[in-house]
Amino acid sequence: MTKLPCAVLGATGVVGQYFLALLADHPEFQVQKVCASESRTGRRIADVPRLIDADLSALGDLEFSPLDMVSLADAGIRVVFSALPADVSKQIEPQAAQAGLCVFSNASAFRMAPQVPILIPEVNADQLALVEYQQRDTSGFIVTNANCTTTGLALALLPLRALGIRRVILSSYQAISGAGYPGLSALDISGNVIPYIAGEEEKIALESGKIFGRLNGETICHADWEVQAHCIRVPTRVGHLLSVHVEMEKTVAESQIVQLYEHCEAPLAVQGLATAPHKPVLLTKDPCRPQPLHDVLAGTPARARGMAVTVGRLQVKGNAVRFVALANNLIRGAAGGSVLNAELAHREGRL
Ligand SMILES: NC(=O)c1ccc[n+]([C@@H]2O[C@H](COP(=O)([O-])OP(=O)(O)OC[C@H]3O[C@@H](n4cnc5c(N)ncnc54)[C@H](OP(=O)(O)O)[C@@H]3O)[C@@H](O)[C@H]2O)c1
Repeated sequence: MTKLPCAVLGATGVVGQYFLALLADHPEFQVQKVCASESRTGRRIADVPRLIDADLSALGDLEFSPLDMVSLADAGIRVVFSALPADVSKQIEPQAAQAGLCVFSNASAFRMAPQVPILIPEVNADQLALVEYQQRDTSGFIVTNANCTTTGLALALLPLRALGIRRVILSSYQAISGAGYPGLSALDISGNVIPYIAGEEEKIALESGKIFGRLNGETICHADWEVQAHCIRVPTRVGHLLSVHVEMEKTVAESQIVQLYEHCEAPLAVQGLATAPHKPVLLTKDPCRPQPLHDVLAGTPARARGMAVTVGRLQVKGNAVRFVALANNLIRGAAGGSVLNAELAHREGRL
């Protein structure tokens, strides 16, 4: 199969480097261009300090190009993976779509735009159809990922959706890498916990309403269940842990809920995609798991390591379901999520 030429924007950052790692030997995409801040132009991937534990040497000789979307399109790029900060994305991603590029973005800038899907293929693959409404005068489009905490929550709620959810209350314990590089100062976070992450709680409530919403022509009717979150930064490196209380519409039986979690499968639309985990949600019965140290790379096959969410401490009483969930914020919640979105778009013939 001929690989689709792609570019990574923000390739020096922590998410950008995961893009490079996941795309270095990808069966469908080939990284031909990388971009970051202006000062990087002309330098090579090999010159950039490595932030992640992965071998990027296959792409080491790639030189940084200016952040010019028309030039990328003229150079034959079709797919753009964006790990830019939101304020930069706000300028650049519409220029990319206008130039005919298909953008898979991690930034929050366009998540709530009505015709832009917040795509998590196992949850809302049908919402990818929204891109058709962006393509009225260009072949390009923007598809976003959810916020890294919302992604973990959405996957952990997937087995419960069919039974009817009324309200979700959660506390998150979020890793330092969620703030990017260099992120928080060591003096602020070492041996400490910070009980506030600006904007995060609002994003979780808004984004999950859209993700679990119903596609209605060119818009989405948001799910009307309530989501209340407390987001807390903790001194772990990778992996956002969530403590979740779900109020269901009706009384549920523990055996039924356990079965739903044990048999949670990806829908057919997603099965077999290169980065899709065989099981998107894994249930552990070990009372001491999931832990960031041990479960952050959950998921099979090898290409889907870090793409599965692990759920544990499952407790059911009346109409309440409680659990702890762990998601890899950099893979499932960021680069891997975007790559999976692009694979789905490719399978559907949208690239
Ligand atoms: N970290 C996570 O867990 C996570 C999860 C989900 C989504 N996200 C989102 O993903 C995006 C990237 O996050 P990150 O954690 O990888 O951040 P990061 O480590 O701070 O990396 C930011 C990247 O953007 C580039 N950049 C910054 N300002 C720029 C400018 N004016 N022009 C061009 N490039 C510029 C940086 O290049 P230089 O190095 O050259 O400055 C770097 O490559 C953000 O929108 C973030 O909110 C992050």
